[in-house]
Amino acid sequence: MDAGEFRRLWNEIAPIGRAESGGYVRFSWTEPDLDLRTWFHAQSKLRGLRYEEDRNGNLYAWWDPERELVIDPDAPHPHKAILTGSHFDSVPHGGAYDGPLGIVSAFLAVDQLRADGANPKRPIGIAAFTEEEGGRFGVPCLGSRLMTGVIDPDRARALTDPDGVTLEAAMRAAGAEPDLLGPDPERLERIAAFIELHIEQGRALDGGESSVAVATAIWPHGRWRLTFTGEADHAGTTRLPDRRDPMLTFAFAVLAARKEARLAGGVATVGRVEVEPNATNAIAASVTAWLDARAPDEAVLSEILSGFESKVSERAGRDGTRAAIVRESESPVVEFDASLRDRIAAVLGGAPVLPTAAGHDAGVLSAQVPTAMLFVRNPTGVSHAPGESASDEDCAAGVDALAAVLRDLAC
Ligand code: GLV
Ligand code: MN
Ligand code: MN
Ligand code: MN
Repeated sequence: MDAGEFRRLWNEIAPIGRAESGGYVRFSWTEPDLDLRTWFHAQSKLRGLRYEEDRNGNLYAWWDPERELVIDPDAPHPHKAILTGSHFDSVPHGGAYDGPLGIVSAFLAVDQLRADGANPKRPIGIAAFTEEEGGRFGVPCLGSRLMTGVIDPDRARALTDPDGVTLEAAMRAAGAEPDLLGPDPERLERIAAFIELHIEQGRALDGGESSVAVATAIWPHGRWRLTFTGEADHAGTTRLPDRRDPMLTFAFAVLAARKEARLAGGVATVGRVEVEPNATNAIAASVTAWLDARAPDEAVLSEILSGFESKVSERAGRDGTRAAIVRESESPVVEFDASLRDRIAAVLGGAPVLPTAAGHDAGVLSAQVPTAMLFVRNPTGVSHAPGESASDEDCAAGVDALAAVLRDLAC
């Protein structure tokens, strides 16, 4: 496909949710997200695709009407669909590509198949999953977790954003219906495979021959809320030995997370913190921070967490503070369907295969549906930040690759 053609469609969403930082703030059920949903609906209509919103706020554009398709009665599940797509939402000040690239590429891949006169024997769907980043409500892949039943809908409705707005209230304010949230086995039953195209989140492809890779696995990972409680007091008049300063325990915890991760062979990040009362001349009363930890396997991840918990609780004892560590979400290791992965790599002429430490809806869905991922080269390797990058040529090559995969699986 022509790079200019990719750019034309890409430019339609480029201004939506762009911040002065150059990054994107596209939180679920906020105005930019609603604008992107409207855009998705318009793109579906423009192409005569059947638009649908499921009970969990995930969107679909179906090239499906079974009446119009020649269903191959010998196919193993002739009516099951091939679904592709990704998510619109971003982390705070995230990159342009993480998520939307998979949706824009899906529309263009369908255009390409149609222009080539392809005759699918299975429905092909384009999906936009909700709150993949957990950037607003804290739990990543919320739309796919609800769909697969791995999160209780009551818990999901009660999740709050940093302003204390619940998911339930946010959905109602956006005109959506939170009462329906919950597992959707019938929909999952109709999906033969889900293919998510995504920006690469690393630099493995930089400088190589190939602009597209196929995913092998996702590292297990999780998020923990850390609450350190001490006692607020005067910054000048409180003697050092009399203090119960939760900021000290917090600072220790940040270093401990990194050290435990380094020793065990994983990664750990504290990227978000809230301090009460947040005054320059008062000792903090409490500090709440969020730990994100990831590792190549579950054993290493538990090793990091158990080392972290024991070091932090010992330190809290010395600081006269209290430390509470509560897991907010967990994402088990994902090994993508090996036969699907090998088939796709072969369709793409022996594309490289890569593991990733980033989470994706494809990972959540993989527990119930065969899934695979394509990664498009990112020369900076940066992700979840404005410096995320991809050339239009590589994005166009990604569309070609996705179209070839859809043709192979659905036609
Ligand atoms: C989501 O992109 C994550 O890996 O945190
Ligand atoms: Mn992401
Ligand atoms: Mn993503
Ligand atoms: Mn992700």
